[in-house]
Amino acid sequence: MNALRPGSGALSSPGRGSGSWRCWWWWWGVVVVGVAVGSGDPWLSAEACPSPCSCSSSRISCVDPERGINTFPVLQSDAEMENITEIYIANQSSFSSINDKDLYYYKNLRNLTVTNSKLTYVSKLAFQNNIKLQYLNLKDNNLSSLSWRIFKHINISYLILSGNPLHCSCENMWIKLWLGEEADTQELRCIEDGGARKLLSRLTLPNCEVPMATLSPSKVTVMEGENVQLSCMTSGVPSPELIWNMVLVSYYEIETSGQISVLRLSNLSSLDHNSKISCTAENIVGEKESSLLLDILFPPKITKLSDAIPDHNWCIPFSVAGNPEPQLQWFLDDEAVTEGRYIMTMIHDRTEREYHGCLELDNPTHLNNGRYTLVAQNVYGSDHKEVEAHFMRKPWDGSEKEPYYYDVTTDTPPVDPPEDRVAVYVVVGIAAVAFTGFLLMLVILKFGGNSKFGIKGCVLFQNIPVEVVSR
Ligand SMILES: *[C@@H]1O[C@H](CO)[C@@H](O)[C@H](O)[C@H]1NC(C)=O
Ligand SMILES: *[C@@H]1O[C@H](CO)[C@@H](O)[C@H](O)[C@H]1NC(C)=O
Ligand SMILES: *[C@@H]1O[C@H](CO)[C@@H](O)[C@H](O)[C@H]1NC(C)=O
Ligand SMILES: *[C@@H]1O[C@H](CO)[C@@H](O)[C@H](O)[C@H]1NC(C)=O
Ligand SMILES: *[C@@H]1O[C@H](CO)[C@@H](O)[C@H](O)[C@H]1NC(C)=O
Repeated sequence: MNALRPGSGALSSPGRGSGSWRCWWWWWGVVVVGVAVGSGDPWLSAEACPSPCSCSSSRISCVDPERGINTFPVLQSDAEMENITEIYIANQSSFSSINDKDLYYYKNLRNLTVTNSKLTYVSKLAFQNNIKLQYLNLKDNNLSSLSWRIFKHINISYLILSGNPLHCSCENMWIKLWLGEEADTQELRCIEDGGARKLLSRLTLPNCEVPMATLSPSKVTVMEGENVQLSCMTSGVPSPELIWNMVLVSYYEIETSGQISVLRLSNLSSLDHNSKISCTAENIVGEKESSLLLDILFPPKITKLSDAIPDHNWCIPFSVAGNPEPQLQWFLDDEAVTEGRYIMTMIHDRTEREYHGCLELDNPTHLNNGRYTLVAQNVYGSDHKEVEAHFMRKPWDGSEKEPYYYDVTTDTPPVDPPEDRVAVYVVVGIAAVAFTGFLLMLVILKFGGNSKFGIKGCVLFQNIPVEVVSR
């Protein structure tokens, strides 16, 4: 990858003595380190790039009609393919399909062009692993249809399809709907059964309708343990497939007849609070989703209350679930804690159904030691839990400053971030190489100093007195 550049620019020529073979080891070290650290050649080596194409580290381009390709090029390593953001293919008369796995390893692909070729088929899974794909240019090919399902999981921003023999079929209706006015800008036309060509924007077909889905009721707010019934009504031609989508702890049953489906949830668990329930209708023209979040009311549950830990302040960590959000009150040895600047409840994180936080204590003293009780309350009930906390030894116990809890909080030293460790390795490596060079210098000076080689120390070690070393 990297040409050996002498010195790698790390140091300029030291003038006299640089040619000395004693200095060779030293320079060797500099070169080795320089090569290891140096990088940035944007062009891939010739072996990595298939011969009809040209490749940079982020782009592959295959435009030569003479030495044609019939499938996407494969680079030597997954890592190289992951770096590719653009593939440009043009003038390939044998390029006819994009299959399931062809682009699997190009997972950072953003721009794809296949133009003036014979592309006839694009698999529904063609872009399964290319969720960053934004720009797709398939101009001047042999596509008669393209399914919307190909793009189901990606947010495509540009789609260019002009110059393809698209059929005036229901399967291509989504292109008209999706492109809108852009279809006219591209002058997209489709071919009718008789062979006539017509502007895609004028395409109307009987029995070809976008599906709809409607979930009712549209909101669900119920007590935990209750039962709920939801229905999903769909429409569209051809008749859409109806799909429920949810991950629930509660028990449920689904009963579908025709375009209507009923979901029966029983004994709703509070664990399903804020879970999403969706109903999707899907046909050849497209898909439509209707969804809601379950709002399940339940009394508070303190799911965690742990020993105090020293942070910026001291913290007594807790987790509480409950809907609506529970009110929290702390008691120290049965006496209500008055919150203020030095003691207060802080919520640090809210998940779907839980609140995670701390009772924070700023510089607590032995007066704060004792049994802490947390009471959580909402309209549906309450919960409480206790924990003992000792922040300091009492003054008459001796060393006042020592936190009592040192043994509990095992202070593991924070692990350095990897970059720091790499930096340390590099520094240690450079030091080792330099030191080896230095030792070799000494050995060489030891023998060389008295011998007929009689070479003066190179400029960097010039002021080491040879007599002292070779004594
Ligand atoms: C991928 O790109 C990154 C950043 O541009 C570069 O450091 C890395 O060497 C590249 N990997 C390969 C295999 O080309
Ligand atoms: C993708 O192609 C478009 C149009 O040629 C260009 O404007 C854009 O910069 C390209 N993006 C990338 C990531 O290559
Ligand atoms: C173009 O596609 C049609 C099918 O849609 C196929 O029959 C025909 O062979 C293709 N033409 C070329 C040149 O690949
Ligand atoms: C697509 O965009 C929507 C909304 O802009 C976003 O929620 C979704 O995560 C995006 N999907 C991908 C795969 O980027
Ligand atoms: C409802 O579910 C809870 C646990 O989620 C269970 O303990 C209870 O027995 C269930 N009640 C009925 C009537 O199934």
